[in-house]
Amino acid sequence: DWTMAAYRDEAVATIRRQVGSGKVICALSGGVDSSVAAMLIHEAVGDQLTCILVDHGLMRKNEAAQVVEMFREHYNLPLILVDAADRFVSTLEGEPDPEIKRKTIGRLFIEVFEEEARKLGGADFLGQGTLYPDVIESVSFSGGPSVTIKSHHNVGGLPDRMNMQLVEPLRELFKDEVRALGRELGLPESFIGRHPFPGPGLAIRCPGGVTREKLAILREADAIYLDEIRNAGLYDAIWQAFAVLLPVQTVGVMGDGRTYENVLALRAVTSIDGMTADFYPYDMSFLGKVATRIINEVKGVNRVVYDVTSKPPGTIEWE
Ligand code: XMP
Repeated sequence: DWTMAAYRDEAVATIRRQVGSGKVICALSGGVDSSVAAMLIHEAVGDQLTCILVDHGLMRKNEAAQVVEMFREHYNLPLILVDAADRFVSTLEGEPDPEIKRKTIGRLFIEVFEEEARKLGGADFLGQGTLYPDVIESVSFSGGPSVTIKSHHNVGGLPDRMNMQLVEPLRELFKDEVRALGRELGLPESFIGRHPFPGPGLAIRCPGGVTREKLAILREADAIYLDEIRNAGLYDAIWQAFAVLLPVQTVGVMGDGRTYENVLALRAVTSIDGMTADFYPYDMSFLGKVATRIINEVKGVNRVVYDVTSKPPGTIEWE
């Protein structure tokens, strides 16, 4: 793509000019935005960049490992993986309020990130994958006056004491342009086309409060659901699909016995930009197949329901 090739060269030159011989750190989330930003910065300044991936224990199954493998092995990006799962999950445990969850995750994220930056002897610049819509929509990402992880550590949400300048090479771009730039940089299509995933991750898909056990159930169920979506060739037709583990137990039968386990809700929407969305009209046979697999394979779930709410009036996430 000619436009993106030109944009890439220009962005690389701009980063070089801004950073000079300074040190840059970049928080990698595993999403497309932070990945494309990191790759551009790496192209511009090489080993002056260190990326930090904070595994908060709220990612999807195998996600942290996949991101680390891709960036270390295929792209040679200097990357530190911080396993902070215990810290996040034990702090969040039992908290039901969605906004307190977001604030807690935002605060811990900054704490962990700062500790890692200090271990590296500090840095002059912080690289971020802030997009144009983040700049203009820095509040109210999730319906109402919510504070999102984005407004915590994107768009000037950084504590002053960190005293770093921001490097934000995607600030003028929209999501589809970032994807085109990612292709231009050689990121695999499977990565570029990934569904969006919220910063607070699975924590906002456990209404009622996070526990280790609920996260484990949710992670397994979500993986089966996405696996079936891919098998059915539906992944690219859907903007975002995920499971939500409800804090409701219902009665069921399995074999000779009565079960009393949790309800799992499935969500899938189509959308252009996440601001409005329609529920995805699956065939009933597909939903039946997914429900059967999840109930058979995931201990702790005995009933599956499908969310047919569009946005508005619903939001995409349940919290
Ligand atoms: P809602 O639920 O507001 O979601 O309709 C719109 C899009 O934003 C994502 N989302 C978030 N992303 N931090 C994020 O980084 C958050 O706190 C957050 N809340 C929602 C959601 O997954 C969807 O893509």
